[in-house]
Amino acid sequence: MKLIVNIGEIVGIVPEGVLRKQGAEMAETGVLKDAWLAIEDGLINGFGPMGTEPAGAEEVIDAQGGMVMPTFCDSHTHIVYAGSRDGEFLDKINGLSYEEIAARGGGILNSSDLLHETSEEELFRQAMDRVWEMMAKGTGALEIKSGYGLNPEDELKMLRVIRSIRESVPAVVKSTFLGAHAVGRGYSHEEYVQTVADMMPQAAEYADFVDVFCDEGFFTVEDTDRILTAGAACGLKPKIHANELAVSGGVQIGVKHGALSVDHLERTTDAEIEVLQGSATMPTMLPGSSFFLGIPFGRAKEFIGAGLGVALASDYNPGSSPSGDMRFVMALGCIRMRLTPVQALNAVTLNSAYAMGISDITGSITPGKRADFILTHPGWTLTKIPYTYQTPFIRQVFLNGQAL
Ligand code: NIG
Ligand code: FE
Repeated sequence: MKLIVNIGEIVGIVPEGVLRKQGAEMAETGVLKDAWLAIEDGLINGFGPMGTEPAGAEEVIDAQGGMVMPTFCDSHTHIVYAGSRDGEFLDKINGLSYEEIAARGGGILNSSDLLHETSEEELFRQAMDRVWEMMAKGTGALEIKSGYGLNPEDELKMLRVIRSIRESVPAVVKSTFLGAHAVGRGYSHEEYVQTVADMMPQAAEYADFVDVFCDEGFFTVEDTDRILTAGAACGLKPKIHANELAVSGGVQIGVKHGALSVDHLERTTDAEIEVLQGSATMPTMLPGSSFFLGIPFGRAKEFIGAGLGVALASDYNPGSSPSGDMRFVMALGCIRMRLTPVQALNAVTLNSAYAMGISDITGSITPGKRADFILTHPGWTLTKIPYTYQTPFIRQVFLNGQAL
C-alpha cells in the first residue's frame, strides 16, 4: 500500500456508482480537508481525515498541504497527425476563416497529405510527444480519433498508431474511427461515404467508437445516419462532431443513434437542448476551438440550467485547437463560459470520462477506481487553478497509482 498524507484537501470525491453529473449536481463535488489517501494495486483504496490513516504502508508521501484532484479526462482529441499547420496559422492571422482555409485545399486535407507521406513509426513518435506533454499537464485519460487518413489504408495506419499509443502509456486511451472527417482526395462525396461505411468491420477491430463531422460543407445528416448505422452493425457507439460551423442536425441524429457524446455545439438552438434532455448522450463543448477560431463558446450555463450535464475537452488538433492543455480548457470554461470552478471540474473529469464510457473506472476520487490524480504544490485550491491559469500547480501526476 502507498499512502499520501497531509493532503490540504481532496476535491473531486464522488460516491461509487455516480457515472455523470447533470443540472444542479454539476455544482457539487466531495471535498475532504486535512486528509490521507491510500493506493493499492493501482487503485484508490480509501481516504479519510488525518489521524485515521491506516498503518503498514510500504511508501508514505508527504503532500505538505498540497491538494489532490482527479486527473483530467480529455474525451475529444485528434493528436495523431503529422507535422503542423503553421502556414495556415498565418492565413488565419491574415483573416481567413476555418472554412476558407479548408476550401482552398488547406485544413484537414493538408494534414491528410502530410500523414500519407509520414511513416507509421514517425507518426507514433510525434503523437507520443503530445501524449507525454498532456500527461505531464495532468491528463490521465484521453480519446484519440483517426480522420487524417481519408482512405482505407491511411485510416488503418492511424488506428494502428492509436493502438500502439494505448499499449505504451499509463493513461487510459480510447480510439475513435473518424473516417468521415472530410472527403478523401480522389473520391466523390458519395463514393467516400460508401467507402467509410464499408471500412467499418476493419475499423471496429481497432476502434471503440465511430465519429462523423456532421457539419456544413462536410457530411450531411443522411451521410451520418448511414455511417452510424454501419458502425452500430459492428458494435461501435457514436461520438459526433456537430454544430461547429452551423446548426447541422448532428445532435438530433447523434441522440437518435444513442451517441455517447455530441461534441462542439458552438452553435446551438433550444431544439438541441430539448432533444438532449432525458437522453444518455453527454453534450461536450470544446472551448479551445472557440478560443482559437474566434467562434462562439458553447452555451454551457444554459445547458446546465436545463438540467443537462456538460463535458469539456481539448479537441487538440492542428487546425482548430493546437493545445491539449486541459487546465486551460478548464480556465476557458470558467472565464469565457462562466462555469464555476466546481462545474468546470466536473466537466473536465467525471463527465468527460463518461463521454468516453470510462467513468466507472476513472474521473473522480472514488474507492475502487484507478488511482489517477494530480498532487498539487502546497497552497493550491481548486479555484486558483483556472484563476491563475498559467502558474504551474502540479507537483506530481499519478496514473494507475504510479507517479509519472
Ligand atoms: O474538431 N471539426 C472537425 N475537426 C477538427 C478540426 C480538424 C482540423 O482542422 O484538422 C475539430 O475542430
Ligand atoms: Fe474535433
